[in-house]
Amino acid sequence: MAKLERLDKVLSNLGMGTRKELKNRIKSGEFAVDGVTVKSPEFKLDPEAACLTMNGQEIRYKKYVYLMLHKPAGYLTATEDRHAATVLDLLDDHWQSFDLFPAGRLDKDSEGLLLLTNDGPLTHKILSPKNHVDKLYYIEYDGAFADGSAEKFAAGLTIDGGYLCLPAKLELLPENAALVTIQEGKYHQVKRMAEACGATVTYLKRLKMGPLELDETLEKGAYRPLTDQEEAALVSCFTAE
Ligand code: URA
Repeated sequence: MAKLERLDKVLSNLGMGTRKELKNRIKSGEFAVDGVTVKSPEFKLDPEAACLTMNGQEIRYKKYVYLMLHKPAGYLTATEDRHAATVLDLLDDHWQSFDLFPAGRLDKDSEGLLLLTNDGPLTHKILSPKNHVDKLYYIEYDGAFADGSAEKFAAGLTIDGGYLCLPAKLELLPENAALVTIQEGKYHQVKRMAEACGATVTYLKRLKMGPLELDETLEKGAYRPLTDQEEAALVSCFTAE
C-alpha cells in the first residue's frame, strides 16, 4: 500500500530545507505535485510515485539517506545513551528528523569512517556476519608485533575467547604504526588481534569499508551525504550475490 506523507516532510527528508522554511516556500507556490501547484504543507502524497517539481524542475526522490561521518574519539556508536554522547549528537537539527543509525561500529575511542543511514535492509546486510567485506584500519600501538604476525593474520588468528578470525592482512609501518584489513567486525576485533600478537593498540582509525573510503577533507566530527557514485558502489557491493 502506498505510504502517504505530508509535502513539507517529504521535502525536508530530501534535504531541501527545514520544515519551517519549507512551509513558507510551499505557501508561496514553489512546488507542484503531478503538475499541479500545491500551496498546502499538509498536502499528502506518495513520494515514491508522485512527480514532484520545484519551480518547474523535477526533484529526484530518494528513499534513503546515507551520510559519511568522520567519527571523532569520545562518541559512542549508538543512537542514544543515558550518559555518553553518541555519534548522532554530532548531526545538526536538520538531520535529526531522518531516523538515522550507524551501519557498523567503531569503539568509543576509535575514529574514522562511519556510515549513518536510515536504510534498514542495507544496514542489516552490512552487519550480517555472513558479509565479508574488507575494512581497512590505521593503528598505532605500544609494544611490538611478534615475528611472523603478518603470516598469522593471513592464516587466520585465534584471539582471546578462542575465536578463529578469518584471514586478515597486517602491514607494519614505521614508528609503531600499521595497516590492518579485516573482513569481519567482532567486538574490539583489531585490538584483540593485535594483543594476540603482543601489541597494544593506542589509536585506531577506520579508513575504508568495502568501496567507501574516508574523505580526508572531512574534519573530525564532520559529515556529508555520499556522492551518487559512492552510494551506487555501496548498494551494489552489498546487494551483489
Ligand atoms: N576493531 C577494534 O578493535 N575497534 C574498532 O573500533 C574497530 C575495529
